[in-house]
Amino acid sequence: MKTKVFDMKKVISPQQLIEIATLLQKGETVAFPTETVYGLGADATNETAVEKIFKAKGRPSDNPLIVHVATKAHLFSLVKDPPDYVAALVDKFSPGPITYVLRDAGKVTSAVTASLNTVGVRIPSHPIALAILRETALPIAAPSANRSGRPSPTEASHVAEDLTGKIPAIVDGGETDVGIESTVVDCTGSTPLILRPGAITVEDITKVVGTCDVLNGEKTTQSPKSPGLKYIHYAPEVPLILVDRAKVAHIVAKYKEKNKKIALLYGTEAFPSITVKNKQRIGRDERDIARRLYRLLRSYNKSEVDVIICEYPTFIKDAAIIDRLKRAATEIII
Ligand code: TXA
Ligand code: MG
Repeated sequence: MKTKVFDMKKVISPQQLIEIATLLQKGETVAFPTETVYGLGADATNETAVEKIFKAKGRPSDNPLIVHVATKAHLFSLVKDPPDYVAALVDKFSPGPITYVLRDAGKVTSAVTASLNTVGVRIPSHPIALAILRETALPIAAPSANRSGRPSPTEASHVAEDLTGKIPAIVDGGETDVGIESTVVDCTGSTPLILRPGAITVEDITKVVGTCDVLNGEKTTQSPKSPGLKYIHYAPEVPLILVDRAKVAHIVAKYKEKNKKIALLYGTEAFPSITVKNKQRIGRDERDIARRLYRLLRSYNKSEVDVIICEYPTFIKDAAIIDRLKRAATEIII
């Protein structure tokens, strides 16, 4: 299959929008930018279309997809019996990087929900995503547009790397703004429960609702509440070891002894006494780290580096960044 790239970095052309919407309406898949990461979209009401997403990504079929819509009315039409606090959350944070898991009203195909009785819905704030959603007037199921297990794509070239030849179209909207996936919050109970941390934090939600729980995000294989949590995510091609700052020199020495090519990712100070093949700062501040993280993880390849040693950044308070780093790690030494 030939993969066409639509360049929308500068302008959202109405002609191109119609072409993209037509593809989606015909049951094809299209990758497009959201404010978090690029998504691989298809008509959420069309089972054959949704199956194409799973096939292109190599995604396990028991991992449900997030449905994207342009308006609050559309969001509420897809769900049943939302608790009262959901309207307040939607008013405050949507459009934006948050996904609400609610009781499913049965409007989307069961491949989207992996036959659960809940559905995850979000209103992205990216102008290209919103324009596509408005043009199609469809609920669009869209997981991150990477091959399953790879870091999520934050620019169109990442999508092309993973999915060229497997999907008909990629919409290039440049780099995404947030850089990590949306907060997923289970709103089926009397208290919101964060299943996946993201840019909207537990503190943000608590300010609106008065209370908010957080699922402990350990890697687990036992029927977790959010099916996606049991899979290893975001893994770079090269093994990544997350190491407490005090132990970094020791671990580097250990790998040097084995003649390994080492990439070092540091937090605030560059370890001046350590010489390695590749040394980079993970980012200036939390926002910068989130934006660059997946691009950084994708930038290492096996032919150049054998191991990434990453300082465990204790200065980061953001639960979402720590969560993604831990999920990317093959080993944690703290
Ligand atoms: O920012 C994002 O959320 C991006 C952009 C493209 O919107 N999408 C994204 O999708 O990250 P994906 O499929 O890579 O991650 C969706 C997560 C998975 O962990 C999945 O298990 C969970 O949301 N999820 C989806 N529907 C769910 C449901 N009904 N109940 C519990 N978890 C659900
Ligand atoms: Mg994903």
